[in-house]
Amino acid sequence: MPKLKLLFFFGILLLYGGCQSDSRVKIIKMGHAQVTNHPVHAAMVFLAERLEEKSGGRIKVKVYPNQQLGTERELLELLQIGSVGMTKVSAASLEAFSPQISVLGLPFLFRDDDHIDKVLNGDIGTEILLSSEKFWLRGLCFYDAGKRSFYSKTKSIETPEDLTGLKIRVQESKMAINMIRGMGGSPTPVSYGELYTALQQGIVDAAENNPPSFYNSRHYEVCKFYSIDEHTAIPDVVLVSTKVWENLNPEEQQWLQEAADESAVFQAKLWKESVEESMREIEKAGVVITYPDREPFMKAVESVYELTRTEQPQLSELIQRIQNTN
Ligand code: GCU
Repeated sequence: MPKLKLLFFFGILLLYGGCQSDSRVKIIKMGHAQVTNHPVHAAMVFLAERLEEKSGGRIKVKVYPNQQLGTERELLELLQIGSVGMTKVSAASLEAFSPQISVLGLPFLFRDDDHIDKVLNGDIGTEILLSSEKFWLRGLCFYDAGKRSFYSKTKSIETPEDLTGLKIRVQESKMAINMIRGMGGSPTPVSYGELYTALQQGIVDAAENNPPSFYNSRHYEVCKFYSIDEHTAIPDVVLVSTKVWENLNPEEQQWLQEAADESAVFQAKLWKESVEESMREIEKAGVVITYPDREPFMKAVESVYELTRTEQPQLSELIQRIQNTN
């Protein structure tokens, strides 16, 4: 192919990569970081099936797991330019793209499951989902990502003091970094797909996540201590690139939104089963599971609230509204 033609070809691929279409079928690429035996992967496959059914086969979503298309941060950047159409990331990864979302990463923000449900499935949740639209990322729905707790290679984390001197893997999130600092550990950002090796090689000593991720990503093979302090309840978010969204007609947009909402209901059910199964399997594998007193951890992160309010005063009102939701 002559050089100019070749350049044109790749230009087109880059421009329309997120949503390819021949005259009849639109194909949307959806990348994510999780493994395929995880409930969020099953939910995305369900979303794809529902959309295909609703559109009579005219819109297909191709799901690429395992960071095949990039880390969560990279995926968000690819969505912004429209070369990947959809993704599912942790709200923590969206922090850099939408300040409002970072609030969901505040430790001990939610009182219980009912509180989480009321916030995420109410007006605040909708506002948060749409807050990243000006950055070319439209949130479609939340997926349950349970509660995050510490797991370590060497010891149970019973108090914040147990984190002293430990390198704790965190997501690429300032809130997570501040939280670990507040508790006295050394935060080390590592992408999810690289975490197993990072733990194995001692690049980090510990990490934190929900039971299905700890189990399905097999981190329990390396970390034999799981301390359920449930310091955060950061949801996952399903997003579509606004470049792709705007390329759909109103009827197609409605199908996509409905498919996403239905997949969230499906995922919530899978999630509960997956948490139970993961805890059972982890225990069977000989992991020491403990339930530390949460009070000292809560005290240790008061500074994170102060820091957030000082550095981003515009978030104070949203924090207050979330705390007042009942
Ligand atoms: C959760 C979340 C993922 C994220 C992971 C992480 O498992 O569902 O989207 O990648 O945490 O800790 O990075």
